[in-house]
Amino acid sequence: MTNSFTQIKNLANFKDKEATIAGWLYNSRSSGKIQFLIIRDGTGLCQCIAEKGKVPDELFEELRHLGQESSLTVTGAVRKDERSVGGYELAVSGAEIIHTTTDYPITPKSHGIDFLLKHRHLHLRSQRQWCIGKIRHTVIDAIRRFFNDNGFILIDTPIFTAMAGEDTQTLFGVDYFGEPLHLTQTGQLHLESAAMSFGKVYCFGPTFRAEKSKTRRHLTEFWMVEPEVAFIDLDGLLELAENFVSFIVAQVLQKNKSELEALGADTATLSKIRPPFYRLTYTEAVEILAGERTKEFLAKQLEELKGQKEQTEKRIAGLEEEQKGQIKQWKREKNAAELIELRTELDEVNVRIENNPKHAKLAAGFQWGKDLGGSDETIISQMHDKPVFVTHYPKAAKAFYMKTDRGNEKVVLNFDLLAPAGFGEIIGGSVREDNHNLLVERIKDQGLNIENYTWYLDLRKYGSVPHGGFGLGVERTVAWVTGERHIRQCIAFPRLMDRVYI
Ligand code: 4AD
Ligand code: MG
Repeated sequence: MTNSFTQIKNLANFKDKEATIAGWLYNSRSSGKIQFLIIRDGTGLCQCIAEKGKVPDELFEELRHLGQESSLTVTGAVRKDERSVGGYELAVSGAEIIHTTTDYPITPKSHGIDFLLKHRHLHLRSQRQWCIGKIRHTVIDAIRRFFNDNGFILIDTPIFTAMAGEDTQTLFGVDYFGEPLHLTQTGQLHLESAAMSFGKVYCFGPTFRAEKSKTRRHLTEFWMVEPEVAFIDLDGLLELAENFVSFIVAQVLQKNKSELEALGADTATLSKIRPPFYRLTYTEAVEILAGERTKEFLAKQLEELKGQKEQTEKRIAGLEEEQKGQIKQWKREKNAAELIELRTELDEVNVRIENNPKHAKLAAGFQWGKDLGGSDETIISQMHDKPVFVTHYPKAAKAFYMKTDRGNEKVVLNFDLLAPAGFGEIIGGSVREDNHNLLVERIKDQGLNIENYTWYLDLRKYGSVPHGGFGLGVERTVAWVTGERHIRQCIAFPRLMDRVYI
């Protein structure tokens, strides 16, 4: 079947003419003589209005009983209507039902997150997942565009590897014909080798980490893009990263305005994302965390959370009261959906109220030398309206390949980029240690098997140059721009420690 149907996104071209769309029944309601059918076709939503008398009686009845997610084609005159979902509606003159669905498991009544994850293969059809999926597509397109247009060469780095780039606790082992290998945690080490050939390179692929933490920021399989540049210093890297992130955000704002609105994303803040970003050293970040400003900030936040809790509880009580009375079925279903959302929200607020004093204590007692934890990052990122670079971390807390600051041997020339509004780290990067002997020391210090790094050390023997790069996590970036709190919603089929269903 060749597809000669009109796509919903193109309906404007058919104003006052006839068109046939093909899709799935997203939602419907009927008021006796008129039926409102919302059809989705992958490009958008369209309200189709079927009036008794204007379509054959038999079809009118069939449409009235058609189950959610049935597939069909609908023909009718295209009318402009500002109030309609996509701005245009269809005055139905005919329809052909392709496949009838009964008992679609995901109803407009809304469900808990566990149920939805178990039905991810169907939940992908929801408006929310559809909007996030489209924005993810733009983010990935922008990533490739940025590097391709700025003279970077794409290098595909291997997935099976013997080397650990990051924390050896998070390796996924594989039996490679009897030899123990693992799935890659980063393409960086191989990329450094390619940078010595091409100058500016990037890799982009799936990344695997056996994260035992069940946080909203960790997946066990995620997508990471990593640029690597020869002859660059820390300032150069920060500039590259802020231009890169600003470009991604600008592309999403330009191409996904309606999706961002549908998701309730904070477009006002996103439009302010342009260079320069804030710059803090790790030492400054620690001073902020342990200082008065953070104490006051967290105390104020606690008050706000308590207010939010009170309001949410009030709204829940109001809705529960309404549900006890005599109300229309559609209103009852709408209330039920809102109640599920409000209860989830209340749970989250309660967790934050519980965590607030713990985080305050951790921040106040923060000792120079530790890596910043999730809660510390959250606090710093909540205190800023634009992304923040945190640079020069203690050497002992960081990966072996990071270059020691020659002016202060205790720290390395690295950075994390924290997204604002509490989203936390989206980029980690550094200048690389380019001195052979210092690198050997660092590898040994970290208890890594030096034999696995022979070829990597060669790069410091043959024309070693200052170089560096960074890695940006796609799902964390999508979570930030869409305002989605949990990164499991930012990849079609998420892999988490306790969840690999579909
Ligand atoms: O900070 P990370 O560990 O840096 C590296 O892997 C470097 N080798 C990159 C480089 O310099 N070429 O990870 C980089 C980014 C993080 O900032 C985060 O966005 C993402 O990868 N990330 C994760 N995303 C989802 N789930 C996880 N478990 C993640 N771990 C890291
Ligand atoms: Mg990191």
